[in-house]
Amino acid sequence: MTSDLSSAPWRATVLTLFPEMFPGPLGISLAGKALASGLWALEARDIRASATDKHRSVDDTPAGGGPGMVLRADVLAAAIDAVDAGDRPRLVMSPRGRPLTQARVAELAAGPGPLIVCGRFEGIDQRVIDARGLEEVSIGDYVLSGGEIAAMTLIDACVRLLPGVMGKLASGTDESFSDGLLEYPQYTRPQVFEGREIPDVLISGDHARVAKWRLTEAEALTAARRPDLWAGRPKAPESGKKRKPPKITTGE
Ligand code: ADE
Repeated sequence: MTSDLSSAPWRATVLTLFPEMFPGPLGISLAGKALASGLWALEARDIRASATDKHRSVDDTPAGGGPGMVLRADVLAAAIDAVDAGDRPRLVMSPRGRPLTQARVAELAAGPGPLIVCGRFEGIDQRVIDARGLEEVSIGDYVLSGGEIAAMTLIDACVRLLPGVMGKLASGTDESFSDGLLEYPQYTRPQVFEGREIPDVLISGDHARVAKWRLTEAEALTAARRPDLWAGRPKAPESGKKRKPPKITTGE
């Protein structure tokens, strides 16, 4: 699967044993429209095309024994070398990788776009990771059956930040993680839903109070659900002390 690679300002090249999985969800909605209009390009390449033996084998049993199969270094290296990747970041999706963050997503979105290797089986030969300088990236502490869905996740997170993709929607600055906080709760009509009302402040028309309420809610949610993010927040400027988390007023 390949879209028009010639003119797109950002591109993702995916090396996979299942190129037919792409574009999949990336061909729909926001990312799909942007793909169709050439704001980004996607190239899914079959690793098996680089196999050299008559059975087109791409994997073998792990050295030292153990279950499963390991993606061969020679086949994967040939697949990587067949891409003219230049200075583009070279990633491999793996549960062993550094956890993906919004900050890394923003960096990747600001560059030319990555080459992404999707692992399968028990893993890939360590020597190709070392020899081709692959950055191992995880999307979370759970194990998927392969790197393809993880690669789609990473690409989707990047694509929505590309210039022109979100259009009139929020620019991505007022949302979870962009300022180290989870997003505040949102409401829309009807004003009363199963006896639950929209908080008064949100219909007060007082923009300063709305902004303050949203910040307080975002801080409370972050402190309650993500103590790791809350602990990493900057100190309050006046006191030099960590801020106390406000009490949560919604949910929980
Ligand atoms: N492949 C399998 N599980 C994964 C994960 N959690 N993150 C990235 N790639 C993976």
